[in-house]
Amino acid sequence: MSYNFSITRKQDMSVANTTNEPFGKVPTNHMFIAEYRNGEWHNPRIEPMHDLTLSPLALCLHYGQTVFEGMKAFKFADGRVNIFRVEKHHDRFCKSLDRMCMPPVSYELFRDSIRELVNLDRDWVPADGDGSLYLRPFMIATEARIGASKAEEYLYMVLASPAYQYYSAPLKIKVERNFTRAADGGTGAAKCGGNYGGAFYPTQKAREEGFDQVLWTDNKHHETIEESGTMNAMFYFNNTLVTPALSGSILDGVTRDSMLTIARETGIHVEERSISITELKALFDSGTQVEAFGAGTAAVVAPIKSITIDGKEYACYLGEDAVMFKLKSALFNIRKGLAPDTHGWNLVI
Ligand code: COI
Repeated sequence: MSYNFSITRKQDMSVANTTNEPFGKVPTNHMFIAEYRNGEWHNPRIEPMHDLTLSPLALCLHYGQTVFEGMKAFKFADGRVNIFRVEKHHDRFCKSLDRMCMPPVSYELFRDSIRELVNLDRDWVPADGDGSLYLRPFMIATEARIGASKAEEYLYMVLASPAYQYYSAPLKIKVERNFTRAADGGTGAAKCGGNYGGAFYPTQKAREEGFDQVLWTDNKHHETIEESGTMNAMFYFNNTLVTPALSGSILDGVTRDSMLTIARETGIHVEERSISITELKALFDSGTQVEAFGAGTAAVVAPIKSITIDGKEYACYLGEDAVMFKLKSALFNIRKGLAPDTHGWNLVI
């Protein structure tokens, strides 16, 4: 089944030059929007980008009932546009929605809302280098009521914004031993607004200390590595790509999954398991060459130049032959149509 949306075109379809704009600052000309009430989605449509009118009583403003996704579309050399891993993002969106007591969006509605928006604003997809169109499907609770229980009314929307590098240089990271991103049984695996809002304070404190990001550790002992801010954490040492297993408190990253799949196919030994700070410190202390990087939709592959553990800074390997760069380039080639898409990850329009 395919959806037919009503489309209202913006009169001025010109495309802004966003090359020097901060990430996510400039939206494209249009947005997708649909309303949920009485157990159904209503009036799915694409309209010129505009502000929302929302009751100050809307539940999302008080209790954080919000869920979002982050996806990307890429331009091929022949002008076709590739929306990357729609099914995997839809799967995660639905899991996050379920965890936050929010109604599902069918695969067809999700796919078609994104496809039609990207198609209409396809001139906004950067063709050059690492450029892409960042896509932000999201849902918010709009029912107007001050009362802490799940809403009966929601908005599902999709926005788009041209994106270049999220991090412009290799990162200086601090192991976070005090604050916690997510606890067992909490919402850590859901892509909900609160996980990000709650991370701002520790991240800001780390920035004031001269770090770019934090490396989150478990909530009980602050000893097991969870993820880094805005991305999954990955390490390559002793010929092995190691990343924390999906424990329930970290995000099931789509870039994480793509990197692991590509790594396994290229014959790299992969371990999804628990990694402790003690193990990491012992590796550094023994002089083992350690690559560390973040993997995420916005960040793609963000090389980490150093990790500070309890005040001591350890340098990570950033040489040109680093495995992370090979994996990044293999991912780039699939997304840009320069290598075969053997997994059906690309939705090309
Ligand atoms: C993404 O990587 O898509 C995210 O949602 C992270 C966000 C902080 C930009």
